[in-house]
Amino acid sequence: MNGESKTYGWGLIGPGRFAQEFANELIHVERVNPVAVASRDFGKAEAFANDFGFGKGYGDYDALFEDPEVDIVYIVVPHVFHAGLARRALEAGKAVLCEKPLTPVPEVSGELIELSKSSGVFLMEAMKTGFLPAIQQAKRWIEAGRIGELKLARADFCFPGPSDPHDRLMNPDLGGGAVLDVGIYPLHLTRLLLGEVLEISAEGSLTATGVEDSASMMTRHASGASAVSLCSFQTEEAMSATVFGSEGKIEIPRFHAATEALLYQGGELVESCRDDSGGMVTAEIIAVMDALDRGAIECAGHTHEDTMRLSELMHEVRKQIGSVS
Ligand SMILES: NC(=O)c1ccc[n+]([C@@H]2O[C@H](COP(=O)([O-])OP(=O)(O)OC[C@H]3O[C@@H](n4cnc5c(N)ncnc54)[C@H](OP(=O)(O)O)[C@@H]3O)[C@@H](O)[C@H]2O)c1
Repeated sequence: MNGESKTYGWGLIGPGRFAQEFANELIHVERVNPVAVASRDFGKAEAFANDFGFGKGYGDYDALFEDPEVDIVYIVVPHVFHAGLARRALEAGKAVLCEKPLTPVPEVSGELIELSKSSGVFLMEAMKTGFLPAIQQAKRWIEAGRIGELKLARADFCFPGPSDPHDRLMNPDLGGGAVLDVGIYPLHLTRLLLGEVLEISAEGSLTATGVEDSASMMTRHASGASAVSLCSFQTEEAMSATVFGSEGKIEIPRFHAATEALLYQGGELVESCRDDSGGMVTAEIIAVMDALDRGAIECAGHTHEDTMRLSELMHEVRKQIGSVS
């Protein structure tokens, strides 16, 4: 069986907060066989498997790597555990879709990518945004010159986050901090729409636990345009993006999970793109299986190089703010 008729067995590791949103879509995607869920807690794995229609639950992660029915392992645990699990999955010959950021440390991300290449096994960081139809439409408008010469962009991912210092977002031992968790989104979007980042500078503040609670990041891009990206766990919610050109602008509300993009010229709304599918990760899931159909070890929509550049940019931001040395 090959090409578009092939069904893929999916195994999920870490039935926590985001896993629920992902699984809700995964189980409705064609060619997906939801095989198994693994948790450190068997009861939790079994309950999640029952709730979302997976075939079985495992009380340890290794059992999932050993399951011959699993083709693709989706890793959705705190960032610091990504590397170890992705390595074990790749070594077991399983294709890996690992939540963002692939790892908090560029060298470690690079090692995983090398392992993917040397073993010929698929590896992808789960950056859903670039696969969304509204974002792809924005990219097409830009490429078609609809807003003229690119000048500026502004993208924010801010929300009032947890105050509990043990929460994953605040805890340095779990890879906490606004840059790795949400700063990655505006950095990804501005790079996608404005071209490679040539320079980056950042300012920000740290929590008492030593992770960034807020950061402002300025980037200069290959297109000649520049961008300001904000991320925070300690402000009102702000999640929109605007790209400004010499002849118009594109607005993308709630861009990380965009359902629409709006094109303005001369102050007038001239075109809009609306995606009512309700899918946030469906396009990403399909892209993984399409890449596997082709025998690829990376996904053209979010390549290994994209992962490395984002990893290096986030590390540089965190160095400038003082959360890593
Ligand atoms: N793509 C997106 O839109 C999106 C959105 C949100 C989050 N994410 C990413 O998804 C990942 C998980 O985020 P989340 O908020 O879903 O995490 P979470 O609910 O805090 O944890 C997910 C799972 O990780 C394991 N885990 C949690 N704390 C642990 C600890 N202290 N030690 C060992 N294992 C632990 C648990 O698995 P067990 O069941 O085995 O105990 C838990 O069920 C992160 O990398 C995040 O960046 C992506």
